[in-house]
Formats: sequence, C-alpha cells, structure tokens
Amino acid sequence: KARLYSGMQPSADSLQIGNYIGALLQWRGMQDTYDAFFSVVDLHALTQPNDPAELREKTRRTAAQYIAAGIEPSRSTLYVQSHVRAHAELAWVLSTITGFGEAGRMTQFKDKSQRYGADATNVGLFTYPVLMAADILLYQTHVVPVGGDQKQHVELARDLAERFNGRYGETFRLPEPVIQSETARIYDLQNPTAKMSKSAESHAGVVWLLDDVDVTAKKIMRAVTDNDGVVAYDREGKPGVSNLLTIYAALTGRQIPSIEDEFAGRGYGDFKKGLRDVVVAEFEPVRARALELLDDPAELDRVLAANADRATAVADETLQNVYDRVGLLRRA
Ligand code: TYM
Repeated sequence: KARLYSGMQPSADSLQIGNYIGALLQWRGMQDTYDAFFSVVDLHALTQPNDPAELREKTRRTAAQYIAAGIEPSRSTLYVQSHVRAHAELAWVLSTITGFGEAGRMTQFKDKSQRYGADATNVGLFTYPVLMAADILLYQTHVVPVGGDQKQHVELARDLAERFNGRYGETFRLPEPVIQSETARIYDLQNPTAKMSKSAESHAGVVWLLDDVDVTAKKIMRAVTDNDGVVAYDREGKPGVSNLLTIYAALTGRQIPSIEDEFAGRGYGDFKKGLRDVVVAEFEPVRARALELLDDPAELDRVLAANADRATAVADETLQNVYDRVGLLRRA
C-alpha cells in the first residue's frame, strides 16, 4: 500500500467543522486505500503561547476527536508527534539544507509574523515548515492530503527531499500534496470570506465539534447570509449562503444543485433549519464518542503509545539512513 501522512495542530480544546470536513472526512475515506499515518503535531503547537497543562489536554482531545470521527488506531497509525523523537532530529538536519530566503517566502509565516508582530514572532514559527517537511519525509510518504493553505509547505518538503537526494543519494521519497477541492474549504459563519480557523479572534462564527448541540444550532441559525433570500451557490456574490451549501453538501454527500432545488423558493429560515438538523445529526455521535474516550485517558494514552511505537520503527529507519548519509559518526 502507498503511504499517506497528515496531521493537525492541537491548538484548541475542540476541532472546528472546517478541520472535520476539510481533513478528517477525507482521511477517513482514504485510510483503507493507504497505509496512513496521522499525527497530532504538538511540537508545531509550541510556536504559539500555550499553558502547559492545557496543551497536554488539547493534545489528548485532538487525538480523541480523530478516533471519534472514524480514524481507527488499529488500522491507521495515529500518534502524538513529540512521542517520536526523530521528528525534531530530522528537522535539524533539514534546516541545514533550507535557504533562509526560501523559508522566508512561506506565506503562512509571513501572515503569522505580521499578525503577531515582530516581538511575538519566534524562530520556531520561521522553521515550522521544515519540521513539517521532516514529518512527511520520515515516513517515505507518497501522498499528503491537506487544505490549500498547506500546499506550499508540502512543496517545500518535496524540494528539500529532492535537494537532499541530489546531494547525498536517494534517501527520501518525493511526496505529492493531495489538495482538497474548493468545495471542502469552510469559511467563518460570521465572516464568510475568511477561512474558519481554530485561532480566529472571535468564536461567534466557528462551529466546534465538541460544542453543545444547542450552541451549534444557534450558530447555524445566526450565520450571516444576504438579503435576496435565494438559496443558490455563488462564492463571490453570496459567500455566506455558498458556505452553508458547502457544509450541507459535504456532510450529506449530496450535490449542491440538488440542495438548491430542494430549498428553491423556501427562504433562508427553512434552509438553515435543514442544515442545523444535518449538522447536529452528524456531530452528536462524534461528540459523544469523543467525550467517552476522554473519560478514560489512561486507555487513550495506551493506544497512543502503541501507535507511537509503530511510527518510531518507521521513522528511526529513515533517520539512521540520513545520519549515515550526511556523515554523522555512529555511536559504537
Ligand atoms: P492545521 O492544524 O491548521 O489544520 C489541519 C487541517 O485542516 C485543514 N483546515 C481546513 N480545511 C477546510 N476548511 C477550513 N476552514 C480549514 N481549516 C483547516 C488544513 O488545511 C489542514 O489540512 N501545518 C499543518 C499541520 C501539519 C501537517 C504536517 C499536515 C504539521 N505537519 C504534515 C500534513 C502533513 C497545520 O497547521 O494544519
């Protein structure tokens, strides 16, 4: 089987529905076809300020939500990034073949460093894509399913693999990004031209997987639309309604035109109620399962440890090969 790698940051107590639709739904669908590795990238999360106890909890909660959404830790390797030491070690080696200007061109770094300001920008934020490249390359990955916002990072991983192979001989497989279509990109319900994000300043337009059903229902009923009352997809002219249609289609597996037909002439109130029912029906069992898993953290930690062992075996093999190729002396 071809290898698949992807991951998410444990940057909030709950994932949001953009992560669910844009990442987890795809991952779940691909885990049969691929030998899949899914990580909770806690080392990446250190690039933002964190309360240590909260970071630990967010890491567990993110893992629980992967499982609750249908990632099976007996079939896929679901583990915590920091449990596999090779990630940080390979990132160091890769940083020595990454150009300063090359890293500086990463748009996510440019956005984040602008948003946080020079004082809050740390070197980790700058080298973040190099660590991501290490994640991907350690597992000799064929495909990396991510949202469009991560494409440039996967391309960097590919460039670094090619450069390393050219300099030291065939070591890494060149990964391919698998970019979700535009119809899997979810926008903020209150600000439908901005991507829905775990780190959004206001949470009014963010639907959390672990929110109470009532809270989720209210957020959907209050979603920003427009004044013409027509349920139709038009990303430019009707971003709010288009976003709701996208969510509806993604969760039901239906085509957007068939949903437009169903709600033709019925107005936004009816449409939102329909969507509310779809969202609540989808997330209620996921939430219940996640909370059940979090009730027994010792068992969850045990599953994560066993998966980390599996990941370590693969990663260590690549890392040893890298160390040999660059000329690090083996310990006797
Ligand atoms: P992160 O944690 O920001 O997001 C995780 C995944 O969710 C997708 N996503 C969305 N998709 C649709 N609509 C949205 N509103 C939305 N918001 C987020 C993202 O595109 C992503 O696929 N750097 C990565 C984590 C990472 C990684 C890796 C990924 C670290 N190492 C190796 C793949 C391979 C990140 O910050 O994702």
